[in-house]
Amino acid sequence: MDFLPVRLSTLRANMDFSFDLYIKMPHKFLLYIREGDSLDGDRLANLKSKKVRKLFIPSNHEIKYQGFMDQILAAAMDSSSNMETVDRASIVVDTAANSVADFQKNPNSEKAYHSTTKAAKGIIGALGADPAVLKHVFEMAKEESIIVQSAINTATLVGRLAKQVGVDAAKIETMVTAALLRDVGILKLDEKIQNMISKPYDSFAPDAWNEYKNHPQLSVELMQDKPYVSPDVISLILTHEEKKSGKGFPNKISKLSLEQEIVALCSAYDREVTALGKNSAEVIKTMMIDDLGNYDLKLLQELKKVVK
Ligand SMILES: [Fe+2]
Repeated sequence: MDFLPVRLSTLRANMDFSFDLYIKMPHKFLLYIREGDSLDGDRLANLKSKKVRKLFIPSNHEIKYQGFMDQILAAAMDSSSNMETVDRASIVVDTAANSVADFQKNPNSEKAYHSTTKAAKGIIGALGADPAVLKHVFEMAKEESIIVQSAINTATLVGRLAKQVGVDAAKIETMVTAALLRDVGILKLDEKIQNMISKPYDSFAPDAWNEYKNHPQLSVELMQDKPYVSPDVISLILTHEEKKSGKGFPNKISKLSLEQEIVALCSAYDREVTALGKNSAEVIKTMMIDDLGNYDLKLLQELKKVVK
């Protein structure tokens, strides 16, 4: 039998599982929960305390597992449910982490792209049900790799800020999807350059900087010939590091649409907070001075409000 890993964090206590769940022992997989049974809170807490991060499903149960994930994502987006903010955020983070990680591994998979658009809808729905989800997402995504963490954080922030300034719903979905996938091209770079994602720009050697500046184009190349990828998503990915001053990269363009500017501004803020680990209030304080020509002042002020 073939097995697929699933994140422990995606499994909710006291819900009937529509799939078999296995635990990996040194030499074999052991059936842990049978389809139709549930996991009680104590057993779930026990697994967490043992730092178990992944469990396994038989590969032919993947569709059943997806159905289970869809069901909990729908609950996280349902404003009439009394789900705690922290649970909504956790479901959004899990769904987005699964989809971005899947796209990183299989950039040519239509299914991986569609699961990312589904994760984007989940982020927007959960924010609509409870805007406080944003704060919890930034706390929770910390267990992921920096690229995945930054994808989830930026996407959630884009969803929140775009709604705040009145962008229409269809455009927000495109923007959140672009934010999730904007940096996938970094994985095509040499590992040494990839690691520079968590270093300040002024510490980059000129050669490394030139390579790093290519990453929006590299991300675009992974999707540009795919008929199922929205051209608007591609356009937003290509400009996610641009600035209105013309000091961004890769094309130093100075005319940005509101949607492009929001994705770029949220990416810039998130780089400081998520990749460089700086304090949000400090980052905003610095941006309000240093980035005045780079982004619209009103947009900076709205960003300040939503991350408070
Ligand atoms: Fe980027």
